[in-house]
Amino acid sequence: MTENPHLTRRPEWASLADHRAEWQAHLRDLFEADPGRAERYVVTVGDLRIDYSKHLITDETLARLQELATATDVFGLRDAMFRGEKINLTEHRAVLHTALRAPRDAVIEVDGENVVPAVHAVLDKMADFAGRVRSGEWTGHTGRRIRNVVNIGIGGSDLGPAMAYEALRAFTDRDLTVRFVSNVDGADLHEAVRDLDPAETLFIVASKTFTTIETITNATSARAWLLDGLGGDDKAVAKHFVALSTNGEKVTEFGIDPDNMFEFWDWVGGRYSYDSAIGLSLMIAIGPDRFREMLDGFRLVDEHFRTAPAEANAPLLLGLLGIWYGNFFDAQSHAVLPYSHYLSKFTAYLQQLDMESNGKSVQRDGEPVEWQTGPVVWGTPGTNGQHAYYQLIHQGTKLIPADFIGFARPVAELDDRLAAQHDLLMANFFAQTQALAFGKTAEEVRAEGVAEEQVAHRTFQGNHPTTTILARELTPSVLGQLVALYEHKVFVQGAVWNIDSFDQWGVELGKVLAKRVEPALTEGADVPGLDASTAALVAAYRDLKEV
Ligand code: F6P
Repeated sequence: MTENPHLTRRPEWASLADHRAEWQAHLRDLFEADPGRAERYVVTVGDLRIDYSKHLITDETLARLQELATATDVFGLRDAMFRGEKINLTEHRAVLHTALRAPRDAVIEVDGENVVPAVHAVLDKMADFAGRVRSGEWTGHTGRRIRNVVNIGIGGSDLGPAMAYEALRAFTDRDLTVRFVSNVDGADLHEAVRDLDPAETLFIVASKTFTTIETITNATSARAWLLDGLGGDDKAVAKHFVALSTNGEKVTEFGIDPDNMFEFWDWVGGRYSYDSAIGLSLMIAIGPDRFREMLDGFRLVDEHFRTAPAEANAPLLLGLLGIWYGNFFDAQSHAVLPYSHYLSKFTAYLQQLDMESNGKSVQRDGEPVEWQTGPVVWGTPGTNGQHAYYQLIHQGTKLIPADFIGFARPVAELDDRLAAQHDLLMANFFAQTQALAFGKTAEEVRAEGVAEEQVAHRTFQGNHPTTTILARELTPSVLGQLVALYEHKVFVQGAVWNIDSFDQWGVELGKVLAKRVEPALTEGADVPGLDASTAALVAAYRDLKEV
């Protein structure tokens, strides 16, 4: 790997800055000058057709971005990641979520040990357990069949399985109720279990560290709810609680039988973990075969990222496009807009993946960055967003690059009437990217007979960049492909920005302070060192509590 000198002093950076300074073209001009771009600026990866023609780029832009990727040795770091090198510098860890979907015969070593057999041993154990729950062979303490599965976790131990469960609902066993509890607000657990029978409920406690306060608090309350419901026999825990963790000691301390623990490893980052044991709730819902299809989808994109040439490498291209807007057009955010109800949690999942990975302001060696890093990622499924915030994307003052994700077919189980609505959904999908790119000129508005005083209001500047990701349908494999695409896109950006995309120190301070403040709220204790504003807020809270 090459050393990474100051990014913005690189000639490749200066070359992009010059290119940006000269940039004037509107997407209308670009398509007029080069009708071939609609076919040329498309990359197909597995089932994903990724169209990037509606971007503020030319061949020249792409060439200069590729030069930056070469200069910053993105592919060198990629290879180091796939080899299992400890590229998570601050935690001295390998970054090997790709090993979670490696084939059985692959060899990937961490500290001289091949990790692939252990990955498959856990997958097999998960498949066995999921099969027993699904078939009814695994019963609760009173001998009743498990009909409810409640995953208790937060961050990566919640968002991934919750997102994927929603995405693949059409593939789930509809006789099982699967819920996800994450918030330490007691209302979350209350609502999740209020209509459930403890005798038929399995809790999956998902926590990489098994020390996360929200998860341990909720799991403790869930255990109390279970025991209250089942007559207080501690032995019930063994049939109703399993753990997903890297920390066997803490799992045992909590009272969960180590046989009921599904292991993963410190080289799996929380936000990269739902294809590990953390996906157990999903596997129970969709079954082991579908889960493996999803892993195949991940692997397909891993292989693409590892082997495709730079100019046809989708994660590289998407990563570089984000850098073009974030670093040279001052775009602050990036919208991800799925036109699929089933992807309603996809963007929330990506928020952690992207923002926890690349929300950094120091370089890998601790020196401050002097360039923008990760964007604010946001969005909700279309067409709901069209009737809410799209106004700002179309006519506001901010540049918001957006990814549109859509499918040619609705999920198979919709009846004919509802399936027929799919074309209307997708008509909106195509119309939006067209409107965003090409807009509507004042002349076009006038030609419609609009009164002159309204012309400016009804004009659409256009020139808003979008990527369109189209697949035939949302299957487990396609979901795996989509997630791996974004994982590697985030990787590319972190590599160029020279930041550690795999630690998350920024979440620690709040955790420490919350621990310090809690006694002041529960016991009225004095908290030394509280700032004046927070001390006044705490005092007001205490007063309000007592009124
Ligand atoms: O606080 C942030 C974080 O560490 C995330 O990175 C992680 O996904 C989440 O908390 C949950 O952590 P754990 O799985 O250890 O409970």
